[in-house]
Amino acid sequence: MRSVLTLPFLAGLATSLPSPAQQPFSLESDLAGERVNVSLYVMSRCPDARLCENVFQSVIQQEGILDKIDLNVGYIGTPNKTEPLGVTCKHGQIECIGNAHQICLYEHLPVDKAYAVVQCQNYPSTFPKEIGSVESIQKCVKTVGIDWVNSGVGKCIQGKNFNQTLETPQKHKGKDKPEGGGDDEVKLLGKEATQLLKRNIKEVYDKGITTSCTIDIDSTVNKAGKRRCVVDGGVWKGCDDGHTAQDFIRVIEEEYKNLQSKKDE
Ligand SMILES: *[C@@H]1O[C@H](CO)[C@@H](O)[C@H](O)[C@H]1NC(C)=O
Ligand SMILES: *[C@@H]1O[C@H](CO)[C@@H](O)[C@H](O)[C@H]1NC(C)=O
Ligand SMILES: *[C@@H]1O[C@H](CO)[C@@H](O)[C@H](O)[C@H]1NC(C)=O
Repeated sequence: MRSVLTLPFLAGLATSLPSPAQQPFSLESDLAGERVNVSLYVMSRCPDARLCENVFQSVIQQEGILDKIDLNVGYIGTPNKTEPLGVTCKHGQIECIGNAHQICLYEHLPVDKAYAVVQCQNYPSTFPKEIGSVESIQKCVKTVGIDWVNSGVGKCIQGKNFNQTLETPQKHKGKDKPEGGGDDEVKLLGKEATQLLKRNIKEVYDKGITTSCTIDIDSTVNKAGKRRCVVDGGVWKGCDDGHTAQDFIRVIEEEYKNLQSKKDE
């Protein structure tokens, strides 16, 4: 209907990518045989991240794809020494806590399991209300069939309180439960979770990535060296190769094939 709106965008793209033609170019031999780097940059309480992660779930579930990629999930925020957690998050301190919870999942679980827990958290129509609550992530970890204590996730998230499953501060029980993210929750967050959060956010910040959700697929086929796709305000942008799960799978297969072919040269 308003397709004219895409024109300025396409024009911008043409100038930022000198050669949109996708021709294999020579690549350093030390990349040969590697997996395809795939990065999702998100914020745990962001609806665009939820949309992105939902589409990407079908990519992850595609048979064999996890053997061909290194999936990195980065959280967007601003390093800030005056904050209790050392970072500022767009949707408040509760989002920083939610990010830390999810980073603990990716640190301690196989990526498909971690992803399934995040999807469980994203699923409710009340999203993002539950994100950042220990109770919610414990429920989802259990739903996916992971042991809170033995997996290491509990210790990462709760620190020394890790073996007290479903432990929730009494005052947060009941209907008038506040949104959370106060200093109590910050104190309850494990040391490991806090350290991982700071490191993860700094890495993404240093890369200059500010839009949740951004999907980057490192490319050795495309001269730009990267295939980027962004969801912003519910709108997909810059996705030259398409933005369905099938499109992402096709691109990953193509990149993987190129990396493997370099191995035999
Ligand atoms: C993937 O990322 C790692 C770490 O940044 C880098 O060392 C490696 O060369 C990348 N591999 C490919 C195939 O792009
Ligand atoms: C850093 O955190 C303080 C609160 O501790 C906040 O007032 C300030 O805006 C934050 N700075 C940035 C750059 O986010
Ligand atoms: C669980 O934590 C309590 C203290 O909160 C401790 O006494 C107990 O040994 C812990 N159990 C395990 C299995 O780590």
